[in-house]
Amino acid sequence: EKGGYDWFMLKEIAEQPQAIADTLLGRLGESGELVLDEVRLSDQELRDIDKIFVVSCGTSYHAGLIAKYAIEHWTRIPVEVEVASEFRYRDPVLDRSTLVIVISQSGETMDTLMALRHAKDQRARVLAICNANGSTIPRESDAVLYTHAGPEIAVASTKAFLSQIVACYLVGLFLAQVRGIKYEDEVAAIVEDLRRLPEAVAQVLTGMDEVRALGRSLADAGTILFLGRHVGFPVALEGALKLKELAYIHAEGFAAGELKHGPIAVVDEGTPVVVIVPSPRSRESVHGKVVSNIQEVRARGARTIVIAEEGDEAVLPYADHLIRVPRTPTLMAPVVTTVPLQVLACEIADTRGYDVDQPRNLAKSVTVE
Ligand code: F6R
Repeated sequence: EKGGYDWFMLKEIAEQPQAIADTLLGRLGESGELVLDEVRLSDQELRDIDKIFVVSCGTSYHAGLIAKYAIEHWTRIPVEVEVASEFRYRDPVLDRSTLVIVISQSGETMDTLMALRHAKDQRARVLAICNANGSTIPRESDAVLYTHAGPEIAVASTKAFLSQIVACYLVGLFLAQVRGIKYEDEVAAIVEDLRRLPEAVAQVLTGMDEVRALGRSLADAGTILFLGRHVGFPVALEGALKLKELAYIHAEGFAAGELKHGPIAVVDEGTPVVVIVPSPRSRESVHGKVVSNIQEVRARGARTIVIAEEGDEAVLPYADHLIRVPRTPTLMAPVVTTVPLQVLACEIADTRGYDVDQPRNLAKSVTVE
């Protein structure tokens, strides 16, 4: 049933190109338009939206953080992202023109369900992005966009996460299409970029033996830091979460620009620091700034593990280990940069002798608040 893999997690990592392709299936029209018939909100309702909240937990929350960059960029609608367990306890400002997007693999997460009920009580529109058909969260939502990742058995979320990110892109582009604003003209080109994602993920997967070897060499680390910027920042958070939950190693993700405001103090001789480098094509020299961050941590003794786009030569002098990912549009980079971090956490946990699919203290579906 594990299809020749040691762990369900490895099998599910390998299924990611298919999970993305299935999530896109039938939703990209021939002439580059988006077809999201399941989003049962009228065009008028979609045009009236003046604010979006994305509410979810854990890995699904990280998908929401990535969604913010894409949805705000494409639609110019302000997006706030919040963990579900905090959302309803602070009296968020919600009304009929607010869209609340809840993201959940299982569709049964109690924190997310309670946030959804609160949003509906306040008359907000609720759109669920969910992987489990017919589960409670999509049943109680006004509309649902299913991720078609297939059943996810390993407790740690992998293929559901990449599918959630892709579903968020679809929602953002669909809103841009319906509302007909700034990025409408670009939608057809971006749709082509989406179609190429399964192939890009398949390409990253071909390099994973090296990442596994690197993982084995990191199994004794006491702490591992993850740095990212722009959409790479949520990827850093996700890399740290995976490592904590599977390998029980202390890990933290930071926005790379925050390094100098405190975290750099913990960098010591030999501290592994994983850096998710933005594309050299990203705006306002964030690429150069992150390359400087790699230099800074390395000067303080860090062992640098650098995830960078193919052809990015600027990182070469500062990378103790270099993991290459294929070139993607800036906003879509998380779909490829997350994959080596999943493999890394899995391999480190396995080397330490832990049950990768059933980590201690965790359940696949968290049905208590
Ligand atoms: C991490 C993980 C959890 C879940 C979280 C939300 O690998 O699996 O953090 O992402 O419990 O679960 P869902 O998406 O089912 O609401």
